[in-house]
Order: sequence, then structure tokens, then C-alpha cells
Amino acid sequence: MRVLVTGGTGFIGSETVIKLIENKYEVVIVDNLSNSKEAVLDRIETITGVRPTFYKVDCCDYEAFRGVFEKEKFEAVIHFAGLKAVGESVVKPIEYYANNLGSTSNLLLLMKEFGVKSIVFSSSATVYGIPKRVPLFEDDPVLSATNPYGETKVMIERILEDACAADKNLNAALLRYFNPIGAHPSGLLGEDPNGIPNNLMPYITQVAIGKRDHLRIWGNTYPTPDGTGVRDYIHVVDLAEGHVATLKKLVTNPGLVVYNLGTGKGTSVLEMVNAFEKATGVKIPYTIEEPRPGDVAANYANCDKAAKELGWKAKYDIFDACRDAYNFQQKNPNGI
Ligand code: NAD
Ligand code: UFG
Repeated sequence: MRVLVTGGTGFIGSETVIKLIENKYEVVIVDNLSNSKEAVLDRIETITGVRPTFYKVDCCDYEAFRGVFEKEKFEAVIHFAGLKAVGESVVKPIEYYANNLGSTSNLLLLMKEFGVKSIVFSSSATVYGIPKRVPLFEDDPVLSATNPYGETKVMIERILEDACAADKNLNAALLRYFNPIGAHPSGLLGEDPNGIPNNLMPYITQVAIGKRDHLRIWGNTYPTPDGTGVRDYIHVVDLAEGHVATLKKLVTNPGLVVYNLGTGKGTSVLEMVNAFEKATGVKIPYTIEEPRPGDVAANYANCDKAAKELGWKAKYDIFDACRDAYNFQQKNPNGI
């Protein structure tokens, strides 16, 4: 099976490309390299022995993107391409709507023209808004997200629902990722954020190698067991495997399907700091700061549906993820 992977040189995309190649899929990547580097292709080749076909194309550039569909033939698409920084989306909402919605509508028009019937979409737990209760189930209400980035995910989910309702032959999987962390166990690929990391794990790994002084914990008075925020952290390799399982599901013609991809387990910030110290032997100094605006107290998934329907379950725990993220950071102190 030949698969188009948009955003395939990014953090989750590159890990998924590896799993696809290991499972004998042929992969074509389209990425504009706005948040990743071409060197990722060398590393995928080192790990798998296969260099995926690559087009440096912006999915918002309809003509260039159409050129890829004219040259290549696909049976399915995994759509990772998108801008993803929550804070930046508040400052640059128009750019976020234009990029995330524009790339997706171009993709869907091209899939229609070229008869491609299956799409896996990178959605997010952010579509659940401020949860009324945890764990979150797939049929919990999709609420207004708390920022423009999240809104693009809500809107794209809606677009895919409408597209599937109109075309009974179209298959779309909305994968709601919880908090992806970790790295490829080789240390060759991992999360490579620009500037000061916003997310917890890359911040911790930069403290661990001495690039940042200490971790700032955003609040310790939440209604959680130790007062710090609770999230469902999933190893990126598990997440990648979830995409392979989803492609297998889509060939059974299910129409629109929705899955939470998480571990089902909530971990607090302090628990994560302790797990990191235990997994790596490196001490992480921290201070307690005011809560970060827009943060929710606790957010974790029920993942029974993915287990039942995809035969997929997360295998790694936070200790594995801490070890792998640290290994990647040590080997790539200045990124890829
Ligand atoms: P990433 O930034 O590492 O990867 C996204 C890739 O898309 C990058 O390589 C970027 O260059 C590319 N891209 C962006 N706009 C493009 C465009 N118009 N045309 C072509 N390429 C474009 O991000 P990631 O963490 O790998 O996330 C992948 C997807 O998963 C995103 O859609 C993101 O919103 C979603 N997601 C991520 C998380 C997370 O915490 N990492 C959580 C939930 C959902
Ligand atoms: N945190 C800190 N200090 C930091 C960074 C994070 O204490 O320097 C805390 C946060 O307050 C939160 C937890 O660590 O309690 C996790 O924060 P992240 O920023 O790593 O992740 P979020 O859950 O806030 O955000 C993630 C994705 C978003 C997505 C959101 C909702 O990064 O893309 O989940 O699904 F929108």
C-alpha cells in the first residue's frame, strides 16, 4: 500500500513513517519544512534502510500539491501537516486558520479528484475543551477549544464528518492524541522545538542537559492528588503504531471513525519530574509558579475503543519515554 504522509518530517510524522516502512508500506512525504528539517530523511534512512520519496511542498499551494498527486498514486493519506503551537495561535490566529484549514481543504479536494478514499487525521484531546470529567471518551461532547489552534482541530473534524456524510465511500479516522512524548530509541529522531520549549518534556530534557536552568511548574493548587496538572503522556512510538493499526481499520471501509490515542493513565507534573529523575539519574530543579492561562487541571483518555476496534494499546510507560527523550536530547543538544 502506498501512503501519502503530509508533515512526515515532523515529530510524530517521522516516527510514523518509520513504522509504516517497517510494516512494508511505501511512503511519500509532503512537507514544507516550516517546522522540521530535511536531515530527518537521512535519519529515517539510517534507521530503516529505506529513503522515502520526499516533496518539499506546501499543502496550501494547491498547484504544487496537485503536481504531487499527478506524479504519485496513493491508496491512503495520513495528514499531520499543520501548525501546532497553542500560544502562537493566539497571537497569529489568521495564519493558523489559513494553514491548517487551507492545507486540509486542498488535500480533500485532491483526494476527491484523484479517487483517494482513506484519510487519517491528527486531531487532539484539545477538542474536548475543558473536560467536565475524566477519563474522556470518544462520544464526550466536542466543545469549543480554548485557543485558535484547537479550534482548527474542531473545525477539521467537522469538515471530515460532513465529507464522509456526503461520500459513503470516503473513510476518515479522527485520531485524538493526548500528550505525545519520548523519541525513537536510537536517539536519532525526536522532538526538536524551535526556541524555548512550551511543552513539559522538551523543557525537562533541556534542563537535564544544562541548556535551561530549572523547570517552572505552572501551578500546584489544582484539584489533583499533588496539586499539579495531570495529563495522559503517550510514547511517540506507540502513537506511530496507532496509525498503522488505523490504516488497517480503514481498508475495511468503516466511514468516519474516532479514536482516543493515549495510555488511559494520568500523570502529574511532579510525578513526571520524579519519573525522569529515576529513569535518567539526572536531578531536575524546579520552582512553582502561577498557573498558565488556559491550562486544565486534568486531562486523560479512556482508550478502550482503540483497543477493541484497532487491537492497539500503548506498550511503553513514562519511564521509557523519559529515557528515550533524554537520549535524543543528549545526542542532539542543538536539535536535528
Ligand atoms: P510537527 O510540527 O513536528 O510536524 C508538523 C509538520 O508539518 C512539520 O514538519 C511542518 O514542517 C509541516 N507543515 C506545517 N504546515 C505545513 C504545510 N502547510 N504544508 C506542508 N507541511 C506543513 O508537529 P507534530 O508534533 O509532529 O504534530 C503532528 C500533527 O499532530 C499536527 O497536526 C499537530 O497539530 C497534531 N498534534 C500534535 C500534538 C503534540 O503534542 N505534538 C498533540 C495533538 C495533535
Ligand atoms: N507544564 C509545566 N511547565 C512547563 C510546561 C508544562 O508545569 O514548562 C505543565 C503544564 O502546566 C501542564 C503539563 O505540564 O500541566 C503539560 O503541559 P504541555 O504544555 O506539555 O501540554 P498541554 O497538555 O498543555 O498541551 C498539549 C499539546 C497541545 C494540545 C493540548 C490539549 O501540546 O497541542 O495538549 O490537548 F492542544
